[in-house]
Amino acid sequence: MTVSTTFLGLGAMGSALAAAALDAGHRVVAWNRTGHRAQSLGASGATIADSAEEAISGARTVVVCLFDAASVREVLEPVATGLSGRTVINLTTTTPDESRDLARWAEERGIDLLDGAIMAVPEMIGGPGSTIFYSGSASAFTSHRPLLDLWAESSYVGPDPGMAALYDTAMLSGMYAMFAGFLHGAAMVGSAGVSADEFVRRQAPFLAAMTEQLAGFAATIDEQDYLGPGQQSLRFTETALTTIMQASTGQGVPDEVLQPVHDLVRRQIAAGFGEHGTARIFEELRSAR
Ligand SMILES: NC(=O)c1ccc[n+]([C@@H]2O[C@H](COP(=O)([O-])OP(=O)(O)OC[C@H]3O[C@@H](n4cnc5c(N)ncnc54)[C@H](OP(=O)(O)O)[C@@H]3O)[C@@H](O)[C@H]2O)c1
Repeated sequence: MTVSTTFLGLGAMGSALAAAALDAGHRVVAWNRTGHRAQSLGASGATIADSAEEAISGARTVVVCLFDAASVREVLEPVATGLSGRTVINLTTTTPDESRDLARWAEERGIDLLDGAIMAVPEMIGGPGSTIFYSGSASAFTSHRPLLDLWAESSYVGPDPGMAALYDTAMLSGMYAMFAGFLHGAAMVGSAGVSADEFVRRQAPFLAAMTEQLAGFAATIDEQDYLGPGQQSLRFTETALTTIMQASTGQGVPDEVLQPVHDLVRRQIAAGFGEHGTARIFEELRSAR
């Protein structure tokens, strides 16, 4: 029997997810608020519904890839009764608490919710290097593996429905901080006439090499051993950051990307930890929840 899957939301990502299912021989029923974005999927063989209500009628599995948490509620609330007893796989980016709220909402209506977070761009869906984190309903994750594995490496991170979003946003925090650091560096050398292209050819391999340090930081944090051998002290890091920030402002480039890092380091030194390893910044950030 041909498997039927419903997709709500055919933006760049929703279209890529639906296309992968279609390519794998699934029967795809899809809906998008703005009809023209559904045309190419329709031409490839998907059934395009005129409304979300029509799209979910008869569906056992509904994949949702909309803009944000508010748009997910806006689309799902009017059709909640029809979703009772079905599985909803939400791949819209949300915060952990928004995912937990959605899961509570779904549970109250008898909807089995699997929340997902996509670590890929649409072009990577179905190809190597893409991962999707899932959390919430373990049974939905297990029973839908053949579908999920069409898109990416599927990684289940726990029954708390907010965990996939937590991993997602935590990983993106590292990415955006790195991007901002690169752009700051590019502005610094740019002040001396160096092109960003010239800079990136030196910066990218250096950053890649520096990621080798992360496992050491992780071990230090997990063992809470900030005085163990081989660590760069907070005092050393404070001096390094001061030098970098002075170099930046000396070139006429604001140092505001590094200021929050500098503040974290200085607070730990003020608390008496100057000779502890730099990974101790983690203790300044640790959740008090
Ligand atoms: N693109 C990426 O690289 C990427 C990577 C990882 C995760 N994601 C996540 O995937 C989700 C979709 O991203 P995308 O790239 O597909 O974005 P997109 O191209 O902007 O598509 C957004 C989709 O949401 C729909 N939408 C927005 N507000 C709506 C509302 N109030 N009611 C009904 N539909 C509404 C849009 O419908 P219309 O066409 O009618 O506007 C469209 O289908 C986002 O949460 C995004 O963070 C994207």
